[in-house]
Amino acid sequence: MSIVITGASGRLGRLIIKELLHHVQPDQIVACVRQMDSAAALEEQGIAVRFCDYDDPASLKEAFAGASRLLFISSPHPDDTVRLRQHAHVVEAAKKANVSHILYTGFAFPEHSDMSMTHLHLATEHAIRTTGIPYTFLRSGLYMDFIEALDLQAAMSTGHLRVHPGSWQFNAVTRTDLAAAIAGVLSGEGHSNKTYELVAPSVWTFNDLVSSLSELTGTPISLCLTNEVQHWIFSFLRKIDTSSTSGDLENLLGRPPASLKASLQSYIGEVRSN
Ligand SMILES: NC(=O)c1ccc[n+]([C@@H]2O[C@H](COP(=O)([O-])OP(=O)(O)OC[C@H]3O[C@@H](n4cnc5c(N)ncnc54)[C@H](OP(=O)(O)O)[C@@H]3O)[C@@H](O)[C@H]2O)c1
Repeated sequence: MSIVITGASGRLGRLIIKELLHHVQPDQIVACVRQMDSAAALEEQGIAVRFCDYDDPASLKEAFAGASRLLFISSPHPDDTVRLRQHAHVVEAAKKANVSHILYTGFAFPEHSDMSMTHLHLATEHAIRTTGIPYTFLRSGLYMDFIEALDLQAAMSTGHLRVHPGSWQFNAVTRTDLAAAIAGVLSGEGHSNKTYELVAPSVWTFNDLVSSLSELTGTPISLCLTNEVQHWIFSFLRKIDTSSTSGDLENLLGRPPASLKASLQSYIGEVRSN
């Protein structure tokens, strides 16, 4: 089996490779990167590294040669129209390279939103279906990192978490859990033509957030809803589905995904060590 991974130098890609090494030998993995010098650590582990640029179709066909499984990690480009073109290059190259199975990391519950980002992910899934190649859609939930936009440091120092008003509910996941689930699918069997919503089985609210934060810091932190908070994240969150749940991630992991409190604990640890 040859597992070819795009976006291998990124945060999710690196974690997936780390997890994958628990399931397969390093010589079964091919890491595709844009900057070859960023991949020395992978090569040292016996992982083949190939050049791949979503804007350079020829590089993609060469990078995907011999792939029995291609993990296509979505482009981080901020313009979804550009991303659509880049993704079309990847899908076309996968077809030309006779890839046996494409696994794509999209976004959870894309049908529930009407915005360019979710249209892009749906369009990519449809493009993959046009190839006739067996697929697996790994629809990632909102990364837990979004909480960084909430200025938790200010909340910890002032005792007030200020957020934009609304009846917010969140289903957010860690890259570590996504990586463990994706690595299991990549190296396992029985996932052909399946779509997984990689989100948690339950949601949390800002009240849950301040309660966990208070407990972890030992300082009472209260919630303050105010229109004065105008961060772009709130208009983004309003447009996507942040509250639907699924058992897919838990089933694939064979354990519950990280709780809000556990995720906050690592976040606070990182803040305190910086
Ligand atoms: N679910 C969510 O909440 C959420 C949030 C943010 C992003 N995402 C999506 O999830 C993806 C993975 O997340 P991540 O945290 O791993 O992102 P990341 O750390 O930014 O990694 C993105 C990867 O894509 C590579 N890349 C960028 N442009 C490329 C190109 N033109 N050709 C080939 N490779 C290219 C980067 O390579 P270089 O190192 O060379 O730049 C990097 O390896 C993102 O790309 C984005 O589409 C999801």
